[in-house]
Amino acid sequence: MKDSTIKQKTIRSYVKREGRLTNAQQYALDNYWAKHGVMFSSDILDFQSLYKRRAPLILDIGVGTGDSTLNHAETHPENNYLAIEVHRPGVGQLLNNIESNNLSNIKISNNDVIDVLQNQIPDRSICQVFIFFADPWPKTRHQKRRLINKQLIELLKRKIVIHGRLHIATDWQDYANHIQKLCQSDPALINLSGSKSYSSPRPNWRIKTRYEARGLRLNHNVWDFCYGLNLDR
Ligand SMILES: C[S@@+](CC[C@H](N)C(=O)[O-])C[C@H]1O[C@@H](n2cnc3c(N)ncnc32)[C@H](O)[C@@H]1O
Repeated sequence: MKDSTIKQKTIRSYVKREGRLTNAQQYALDNYWAKHGVMFSSDILDFQSLYKRRAPLILDIGVGTGDSTLNHAETHPENNYLAIEVHRPGVGQLLNNIESNNLSNIKISNNDVIDVLQNQIPDRSICQVFIFFADPWPKTRHQKRRLINKQLIELLKRKIVIHGRLHIATDWQDYANHIQKLCQSDPALINLSGSKSYSSPRPNWRIKTRYEARGLRLNHNVWDFCYGLNLDR
């Protein structure tokens, strides 16, 4: 069999489980998706027509129920937010909260971020990327599922604007080590806390979501990372 005929199996960073939608989440998906949702397509998004204005774009990846996105978008009305989440109950919850808080600066995609980045996001268009508490996949045999890997970082480096930033937080030590090695060894990235620092101070604007609270209950530390693009390369 020729190499080109071998179908590559894609490893996803999540397991699709529909879970139970509450009535409120189902209501939000039925009634608010058309207003705040972004359908998947192979066409590049036009952010100005999507948000009906020009503003710095923040990409929040794997938002869960979107509490952190909601808080940031409420306190920074000057930014546009694209929240990405594969799990529909979380999308429903965020849709409800967008409506009840009357926000117009958050749009939601219900797709794998890799597909969204590869197909819909223009190069050099994202000012900040948030990846907070990505699923840790702690078992060795599952670590190939981790979202933060070379493929994602390569895509983000193309999509972030020249003075943009990548913020990551995790409460899993070996995921933190993996993230630190991946980013620190990449000559196109700069550790904004200094090249000798392992991680960054916790930003005071990052609210404590239930994933961080759970980590702290388990006596985990929490590591923040903040990287920019190396313009000298
Ligand atoms: C542990 S939760 C963290 C939620 C949120 N960031 C927080 O800090 O509260 C990770 C989320 O990432 C989502 N996720 C995992 N892989 C994803 C992917 N490839 N694209 C979009 N979302 C993804 C999962 O469904 C899950 O809701």
